[in-house]
Amino acid sequence: MSFTVAIDGPAASGKGTISRAVAARFGFAHLDTGVLYRAVGVKGGDPIAAARGLSAQDLARDDLRTGEAGQAASKVAAIPEVRAALVQFQRDFAARAEGAVLDGRDIGTVICPDAEVKLFVTASPEVRAHRRWLELGGDAGQVLADVRERDDRDMNRADAPLRPAPDAIVIDTSELDAEAAIAAACAAIEARLG
Ligand code: CDP
Ligand code: CDP
Repeated sequence: MSFTVAIDGPAASGKGTISRAVAARFGFAHLDTGVLYRAVGVKGGDPIAAARGLSAQDLARDDLRTGEAGQAASKVAAIPEVRAALVQFQRDFAARAEGAVLDGRDIGTVICPDAEVKLFVTASPEVRAHRRWLELGGDAGQVLADVRERDDRDMNRADAPLRPAPDAIVIDTSELDAEAAIAAACAAIEARLG
């Protein structure tokens, strides 16, 4: 029997940090689904064809973490055919026997609506932009503008908009360090594992 943890939230809310810690703690496989959209975004050409033909090589590119890749990802992520092409891969991953944690925008709402645990990780745009700026550098005002632009695009698209599933546990990390956020997530998972 599989056990799936769905972790959604906006950019730099701390989803990845929590997901990696949860995977290590419980022995679950981890899929950062943002990488799929980033890989489609940076590949160029027809995004629908890119999503349908995504390869392991595409997912291993070194330039997927840049701000430009994030923006490109959120543009192609609004295309329904791109999203549709990536659904089965994510669902197959979620069904892995050792258990799985997937983080993204629509895991609890669309990809795994029956996930055993759903978390929605968030924080204020200012806090998230500051975290991204610490990671990537550049102009702080531009990083905040990019975060807001991506939030707006991800929350207002017609297909699979970013929003908490009705049964998601919300973790606001604005005033939590990574350790405290991880502890909150692990407590929710332990409660469900029994
Ligand atoms: O995956 P996501 O974009 O949601 O965020 P992340 O990559 O997990 O976190 C972005 C940055 O914020 C990382 O450098 C984390 O170490 C940091 N972070 C933090 O300062 N406090 C938290 N509660 C969570 C993450
Ligand atoms: O790490 P960060 O939160 O900045 O971004 P990401 O998780 O790598 O996602 C990049 C972009 O891909 C997001 O802004 C979304 O537009 C899109 N995405 C999505 O639509 N659905 C997902 N499940 C994951 C990412």
